[in-house]
Order: sequence, then C-alpha cells, then structure tokens
Amino acid sequence: MPEGTSVLRAAALADVAIPKLCATDSLEPFGSCRLCLIQIEGRNGYPASCTTPVESGMKVRTKSAMLERLRRGVMELYMSDHPPDRAACAGNGNCELHAMADAVGLGEMRYGFEGKNHLDAARDASNPYFAFDPARCIVCSRCVRACEEVQGTFALTIDGRGFNSVVSPSQHQPFFESECVSCGACVQACPTDALVEKSMLDKGVAERSVITTCGYCGVGCSFKAEVKGDQVVRMLPNKDGMPNHGHSCVKGRFAWGYATHPDRVLAPMVREKTSDAWREVSWDEAVGHAARRLKEIQSKYGPGSIGGITSSRCTNEETYLVQKMVRAAFGNNNIDTCARVCHSPTGYGLKTTLGTSAGTQDFDSVLQADVILVIGCNPTDGHPVFASLMKRRLRQGAKLIVADPRTIDLVRTPHIEAVSHLPLLPGTNVALINAFAHVVLSEGLAKEDFVHERCEWPAYELWKKFILDERNSPAAAAKVTGVPAEKIRAAARLYATGGNAVIYYGLGVTEHSQGSTMVLGMANLAMATGNLGRAGVGVNPLRGQNNVQGSCDMGSFPHELTGYRHLSDAAMLGSFEAAWGVTLDPEPGLRIPNMFDAALDGSFRGLYVQGEDIAQSDPNTHHVTAALGAMECVIVHDIFFNETAKYAHVFLPGSSFLEKDGTFTNSERRISRVRKVMPPLAGKADLEVTCDLSTAFGYPMHYAHPSEIMDEIARLTPTFAGVSYEKLDRLGSVQWPCNDQAPEGTPVMHVGHFVRGKGHFVVTEYVPTDERVGPRFPLILTTGRILSQYNVGTQTRRTANVVWHHEDVLEIHPHDAEERGVRDGAWVKISSRAGETTMRAQITERVPPGVVYTTFHHQSSGTNIVTTENSDWATNCPEYKVTAVQVMPAAEQGARRAAGQAADAHAAAGR
Ligand code: SF4
Ligand code: SF4
Ligand code: SF4
Ligand code: FES
Repeated sequence: MPEGTSVLRAAALADVAIPKLCATDSLEPFGSCRLCLIQIEGRNGYPASCTTPVESGMKVRTKSAMLERLRRGVMELYMSDHPPDRAACAGNGNCELHAMADAVGLGEMRYGFEGKNHLDAARDASNPYFAFDPARCIVCSRCVRACEEVQGTFALTIDGRGFNSVVSPSQHQPFFESECVSCGACVQACPTDALVEKSMLDKGVAERSVITTCGYCGVGCSFKAEVKGDQVVRMLPNKDGMPNHGHSCVKGRFAWGYATHPDRVLAPMVREKTSDAWREVSWDEAVGHAARRLKEIQSKYGPGSIGGITSSRCTNEETYLVQKMVRAAFGNNNIDTCARVCHSPTGYGLKTTLGTSAGTQDFDSVLQADVILVIGCNPTDGHPVFASLMKRRLRQGAKLIVADPRTIDLVRTPHIEAVSHLPLLPGTNVALINAFAHVVLSEGLAKEDFVHERCEWPAYELWKKFILDERNSPAAAAKVTGVPAEKIRAAARLYATGGNAVIYYGLGVTEHSQGSTMVLGMANLAMATGNLGRAGVGVNPLRGQNNVQGSCDMGSFPHELTGYRHLSDAAMLGSFEAAWGVTLDPEPGLRIPNMFDAALDGSFRGLYVQGEDIAQSDPNTHHVTAALGAMECVIVHDIFFNETAKYAHVFLPGSSFLEKDGTFTNSERRISRVRKVMPPLAGKADLEVTCDLSTAFGYPMHYAHPSEIMDEIARLTPTFAGVSYEKLDRLGSVQWPCNDQAPEGTPVMHVGHFVRGKGHFVVTEYVPTDERVGPRFPLILTTGRILSQYNVGTQTRRTANVVWHHEDVLEIHPHDAEERGVRDGAWVKISSRAGETTMRAQITERVPPGVVYTTFHHQSSGTNIVTTENSDWATNCPEYKVTAVQVMPAAEQGARRAAGQAADAHAAAGR
C-alpha cells in the first residue's frame, strides 16, 4: 500500500466499509463531513479516517456504539436541513446521502424542519443540462474540489461560513453565466441530488447501462450510457475508462440529443437527377439502384471512374469494409478518408522518421512530463478531457511552452501560466522548429549518445549541417515568425534541458503547405534531444475526430492497406488477395482532391461517401460543389441530410454511435469498444449497408457480427494481430501494436529502438507558403474550434450546446479593426482569392495584428468558401490554417449567410 494511504482507503481495500460523504476515490481527502470517524488504539478522540494515513501496527476500530452514535448525530443534522420527501430525490434509490442515512441507522429524527434551514433556497436551472438545488446541498465541497482537481476550471467556491455556507459559481453568478464549462464533473461528484442532470429529472432512473465510447473527439472517453427502454437517460463518464478516468466534457456527457433529432433521415431515397424530387424507397431498391448506377458508370468510363470516401466518425470495422468494398468490389484503389484533410501529414512525418504513423505516448504519460510544448492545438477547446489531465500536471509544476498565433486559454488559466507563449505568424511553424533545433545543436544541448545508439548517424550529420546554417538561426526565424530570437532561444533551451519534454500538436501543425515538413521537424527535434522512447516525452498528435487514428489504420488511403503498408509490398498484397479472393490493383488510386479534379475533367463519375460532409468541410467549397455537380452518381450515407447530399442521387440513412457495435481508436492508439445502446433508427447499421452495397455490386460480403471483421483485420495486420473483441471486453481497451510481442498492447512506442529500426533525420527546409499577403489580401485568416461545438456542427448544432455558440465570429485585433472601421459585433465581409463570406466581428487581442481567426461550426459562416486549394506538398492536406484575406465592414449579412442561418436555426429549433 503506498505511503500516505488513508485509513478509509485501506479499509475499503480490505472490504470494510466506513460511512463517508465528503470523500470519493477520485478526489483528494478533505475531512469536512465528520461521518467517517474512527477510533485508533492509543490515541484520543475520533479522527476522520479519510484524512488519517494508515501506519504499520495501527489498530483501528471502525465500529463501536460511540462511533455509531456520533455518526447518527452527524447524519441527523444533515437530514434535518434536507427535503424530507425521499421519493422526490432524483437519485431515487441511488443517492449517497440517503444510503448513508440508512448505513448509520438513522431512524426517527429529533429535530423538525421548523427552525432555520435552506429548504426554500432558490434553484439554479440556468445551465441547459443540469440544475443546482441549494436546498439539497450538504456543502460537502465535492463539487468545488471536482471542478478544481478533476476539471481544473476553478469555477466554484463555498461562499460564506457555517450555516450561511453556499456553493457559489464564480462571483455569485448562475452556473450559465459563470466560468463553468459544463463538464459535469461536479454533477458526478455530488453525493446528493443538489447537482443533477435535467435528463434524469425528465426521464427518471435508468434500467440498464452499456459501456461505450464517445463519438466526438480523438480523446475517446469511455462512458456508461444509462438507458431506459431504448432511451438514453444520461451518459456517465466511466471511472475505469483509460483515456478519461471518469471525466468528460460538455459534448460527450451532455450533447447526445442529436441522435434522436427530428432531422434524422430514416428512409433511403433516390433520384435520377439532382433537380428531381427525392423518392423514398426500400433499402433493397436504394442499394440496388446505387450498385447499378456505379456499374453503369464503370462500364462507360472505365474501372477507375468510381471510388469511395471513408469517415473518421465511423468505426474501424465500417471503415475497413468501405475500403475493402472499393478495392475488392470496385476493383481500384480510389479510396480516401477525411483524415486527408486533417492528419495525413502526421502519418507521413512520423512514419518517415520513427517508423509508424501514430503518436508515441498514452495520455497518462503527460503526468511524467517536465516540459510540455503545445504547438498548433488548443486542448482546452479541442481535447478538453486531455487538457484537464495536462493542466493537473502543469499545476504540479511542469513548464509550459505554447507556440500558437492566438493567445489560447492555456497560456493563462487559473493556477497555470505558460513560461513562454510564442505567437508565431501562421505558416511559419517550420522556421520555428528549425530554430529550436539550431539552438539545441549550436549550444551543445543535443543528446548525441542517444542519437548514436538509436538513430542513423549519417542522416543526423546531414541534418545537423543543414540546421546549423545561419538561415535556421533564431535571428533568421524571428524575421519570419515575428517571435523575438531571445524568446525562441529560451524556449528551445527549456525544451532541451528541462527534463522530460513532450510535444503535443494539432491541426495548427498539419493543415499547412508544409504540414508534413513540420511533423518531420518535431520528430527530428525530439530525437536530437533524446525525448522519445519512455514515459513523459514523445511527439503526439491530438486527433480531432473520434476515429481519425482508426480510419488511417484501417487502410483508407489510396496507396496503403491496413497498418500503413504500401501497395507495392507484393507479399502483403498477396495476403489480402488470398483472404478476399480477388486480384487487387497494385497502383495507388485517387486522393480526395484528385477525385474532385478528375470529376471536373470527366474521368471520375461515381462516389460513395460515408459519414463525411465534404461539401462543407473540404476547402474551396465552389470547387468541391462543382466537382460533385459534375458526377453522375453521388451516394451519401449519413445520419442527416447534409450539404453534400444536395448533390447526391442516392441517400442511405446512417446510424449514430449509439446505434452500432464496433471499435474506435483514439489519439493514443487505444482501441475501445463502441456498443449498441439502441437499435438503428433506420433499421440497418452502417456495416450492413456497406455489405449490402458490395454484395449488390457483385462482391458478396457477409459478417454475422463486427467482431468477425476485427478478427479479419487482426489476421491481415501484424500490429493488430492480438486484437479481439474478447480481449477488449476483458481489458477494457488496448493500444496497438498488440501482438505476440505486446499481447496487452503498447502504451509507449519506440522503447529501446524505433519501429523503423534506427530513427531517421530528415532535412526540413522552410519554404514560405504560396499564400502570401499583399495589398489586396493583407490579413491572414486562420481557423480553429470552440469547446461547445464540433467540426461543421452537424451534431452539436442539433443540441442545446448552441446556447454557448450560436454563430461563428471573426476575431480581429483592435489595430486591424480600427484601420478598417470595423466595429465590435458588426458585420464584416471576408474575401480571399477563392470567395467571400460574411460574419460578425469580435475585436480582441487574442489574435495578433495581421491575423484574423474564426471557427467553422456553422453553415451560415461558410468559412470554407474563402479557404483555398493550397495543400501540403506530401499529402495534399489542405492549408486551412493560412488564407490571405481582406476584411471590410459589410452593411448586412450576405444572402448565402442568411440561408445558412435559417438552416442553423432549424437545426437548433428541432433539438
Ligand atoms: S452541490 Fe453537491 S457536491 Fe456540492 S457541496 Fe452541495 S452536496 Fe456537496
Ligand atoms: S460543470 Fe465542470 S466546470 Fe462547471 S462547475 Fe461543474 S466541474 Fe466546474
Ligand atoms: S473530450 Fe472528447 S471524447 Fe471526451 S467527452 Fe469530450 S468530446 Fe467526448
Ligand atoms: S468522508 Fe471523511 S470527513 Fe467526510
């Protein structure tokens, strides 16, 4: 038992229950309720067991007549200021307060309810998802501590003293107006129903629970979906969930109502031309029609004239089947994934340098980091549960460096301040990382013994020569990035010498014309400083969508099969040919942007898109929609009628994550089960539909259960060889590689040696983007996310989350606003070489002069109308993060925006 273990905890481990209220296993001991009293031989009094450390030889009495009397007295005081009607308790048989009253044998109470009490205190129902009833509060501080220790927001305090003590969000504000970010940790921690989910109040207590995985971001939190009939009552973060340890954010915990939103399309539909009205048809007719049209196109335009797009929103098994259908049934490799537009440079960069296309660490590794370098990501908004873990480590004393054009929340947040914020100009990441390396090498801070042992020395020497050139010095980088050379030097020294140093990065790294170069550059730096191959270090992409990692692992790229194996590997290709019973095309197929170009030149005519709204999420909307409009058969398989569906000829209703079985793989390579909570609303899970389509096309696919698909993946993919549903059920989750060498998975990669053998340094020349500012477009537009919304908002706009963010706004620096006569909250027109849109301005110093910023969650903003087709040189990942624009006041919103706003309002109204 570790030193400092409390008597309460030690007793629990020995299966001895001591009554308690203010203590939980997820919070530091507090010692306020006085219910857990014990007697210790040789000591006076009745200490609280939750704050008393166990000692060797200690003799503890947990039961005695005196202890029972004292505990009953404590409970009596609580219950005399608590609503007496047990049946009205939302916990309804599951309430810790009532359970403790029973445990201590509290029967008749000596005190009535006539005296001074809190029973008439006003309820706060301002938060859309949970309510606070002070009348039911016992002021145990669990909520306050959860907000501090688990979430790290520090939104709550106990205000007043003694009888007047009350839980207070921020400055005596209602929850909704306070700093609260609605993570729900306080609700989870509350031992009474003082803080309670409104869904519990509406729907009552659940009948069963199902462990599943969040369908939003790449943290991949584990939840217990509590269900009554086929209705979700609430989503409870799973304490045994390895990515989240019982924590959650507002999206996963509360924003699941979209799954039953009236906008869900539940009947298959077809039409000959996009100008025709849709016809609702049977599944058989829709699938048969889709297969026939695709075959007709192939016979007219050739085998390569059709293809498919998989989704990072769908399960591994679904994604695997779509790429299998394209390769085995369509007979080509025209398969790509929406990861193309986010993390394809991660795959390229980490595979080239380290040997595998994935992050190096598990999330918990951050608790052993001493220096945390955050580049181009905004974890508190994009990956909130991981951000809470990172904040915990930062409060313990780890040092933080943030490289981001914007002053993201992490730069200064309660009890955390970045040692250094490097507000570099968008598009200059590579110059910055090269300058970091220049400091390391020129000041003798490299760990050359590590490099000697673990990396290819000749490649290191080449790289070293390149990096030491003056063009990579901090002084040169300062001119390009706008960050003073001294700040770059100090940050680089800290990274190289501050102990375990880890890099976390996001789309602010990858969505650039040099996205792949930057990933290579970060891996170079980590290798040169020996920051790989153990806990607390590494290079880690924070994946945006729930299954970005998985969709890439499953062979969704046109040049690779599962496990990132190139089609040119004849033995590997042969193993798939044998398993699938077909001859496979060894030539790589079309990437998404190539599909669009080929559609416009007439050679690509038919597309199946699963779970991805390319018309809204891909750059240069005009180009995308022109390409879609040029195709003869677009098949959209989705839960909502999205923007892409406007160009579709067949619509196949999809199923949400609550309606299916499968697995997701999160940012830390962790494979977790997704379990069916309710039957598919449209009658078929997505897997069945893909199998039906493939079968109708002429390549039969049948699986009795998704576990059979995972077994097939495991048979064909060395890094997945040890993965099975049985193992996932037994262990909860597992991180690949999982095989004979690592039967229970691999939390930290590259221990002892790199996956590719020796680490490979690559020269990373900084090449400025073609997207230059000039007199016509003098500002740089960059984009990002906000906590309450998710990607293009298809789901979150259909939940109460719209109360926090009902429209995208353009952040602009006061200097740039003043120059243009832009007023705060007024409409502005944003124009680029690709197009123009309108939104409201928000004047703020969060962005530096010369840079404007917006989110892309709402249809009305049409952000991708202005983004261009520039892309990463290696992977074609679009350069979303750098668009030269002009911003001018607009008299009113544009016509497109008004139409989009009507659609946004419709989505929000139906929730
Ligand atoms: S709201 Fe709940 S957790 Fe917070 S102090 Fe009151 S009873 Fe304790
Ligand atoms: S919901 Fe989360 S952020 Fe809000 S008060 Fe509770 S713990 Fe704090
Ligand atoms: S952090 Fe991500 S995975 Fe976790 S609950 Fe929030 S959205 Fe879901
Ligand atoms: S549980 Fe120990 S004092 Fe409350």
